[in-house]
Amino acid sequence: MESQANPSNAKRALVTGGAGFIGSHLVEALLAEGWQVHVIDNESTGRAENLREVRDNSHFTYHQGSVGDETLLRNVIEQVNEVYHLAAAVGVGLIAEAPLETIETNIFPTGLLLSLLREHTAAGRKIPLFLASTSEVYGKNPLERWTEDEDLLFGPTTRFRWAYGMSKAIDEFIALASCRQYGVPVVVGRFFNVVGPRQVGHYGMVLPRFVEAALASRPLTVHDNGQQVRCFAHVRDVARGVLRLMRTEAAVGQVFNIGSDQPVTILELARRVIAKIDPSLEIRFQSYKEAYSEDFEDVRRRIPNIERLRQTIDFDLDYDLDRILDDVIAWTQEKRAEG
Ligand SMILES: NC(=O)c1ccc[n+]([C@@H]2O[C@H](COP(=O)([O-])OP(=O)(O)OC[C@H]3O[C@@H](n4cnc5c(N)ncnc54)[C@H](O)[C@@H]3O)[C@@H](O)[C@H]2O)c1
Repeated sequence: MESQANPSNAKRALVTGGAGFIGSHLVEALLAEGWQVHVIDNESTGRAENLREVRDNSHFTYHQGSVGDETLLRNVIEQVNEVYHLAAAVGVGLIAEAPLETIETNIFPTGLLLSLLREHTAAGRKIPLFLASTSEVYGKNPLERWTEDEDLLFGPTTRFRWAYGMSKAIDEFIALASCRQYGVPVVVGRFFNVVGPRQVGHYGMVLPRFVEAALASRPLTVHDNGQQVRCFAHVRDVARGVLRLMRTEAAVGQVFNIGSDQPVTILELARRVIAKIDPSLEIRFQSYKEAYSEDFEDVRRRIPNIERLRQTIDFDLDYDLDRILDDVIAWTQEKRAEG
């Protein structure tokens, strides 16, 4: 997708949430493609440390602050010709702790961002936007595999865990309506269980939690009976897919599942981590009630149909689960050695 933003054709991108796990990999991929990159991040769950490899790069500019800060956002958008919006309150653990902040963080800045992009579009300066959405928008849809046009099926508003998926679904509406009504070029990507170096386990992300426990010789805690089904994709494959979508005209105004379509149960994942690190380690089972709260509901199966992605950008994964595990284990060992 060619941006008409900058007459000098300089490639300048903004990555919101760029100090986060996926954002930091996207920043590196953009710099490697010759882009100048601005990051806005308030370091609520991300860390400037994630950007240590790039912080001295003359093409990189870091703005520590909130994407909800209109003055900051307006100023940075003036300087770029593409936006990747990843800043969000992420993960079901965080939602349980702070539902209101999650809803506010995920909806209001997206509204602000799209209103600024609308202004630029009206002034003849189209700035393409990639919106990071999530498999959580499917809610508890019971289908085997989820296709982008499927119905979304959420639980009641008294159960806050659904607020994450719903807030991201509202973001999708805002982005798609801005595209349809005002011509803002948007691409929506629904990520499915992205994993890799720099992901941390604090907010309930399962793979880093397992690897950190196993390397510390602690038992692995599996929720419920471990028969939940997930598909894990390496963050570098995901970042590559996102960049390719943003270079593809046919992607504009569309929603894409982004991730792996190779399922594995959480129990099997735990076994594979143990087999690689220490086969003598135990697996312990913990009820959802103990792990979260009385009214927690999990999604048992989460498998994407990625045909649309494959057809639009000829997408293939470089990392299978075995390579992913090796990479995550090696990175976690390195981090532990650094202290
Ligand atoms: N990791 C996954 O498997 C996954 C799955 C589905 C969707 N996603 C989406 O991908 C995006 C990135 O997620 P991630 O896994 O890298 O999580 P992350 O927590 O590492 O990244 C989110 C980043 O946003 C920043 N942030 C939060 N609120 C902000 C604000 N108001 N202003 C500026 N920065 C703010 C955080 O500090 C953090 O750096 C999110 O939008 C998330 O919803 C991730």
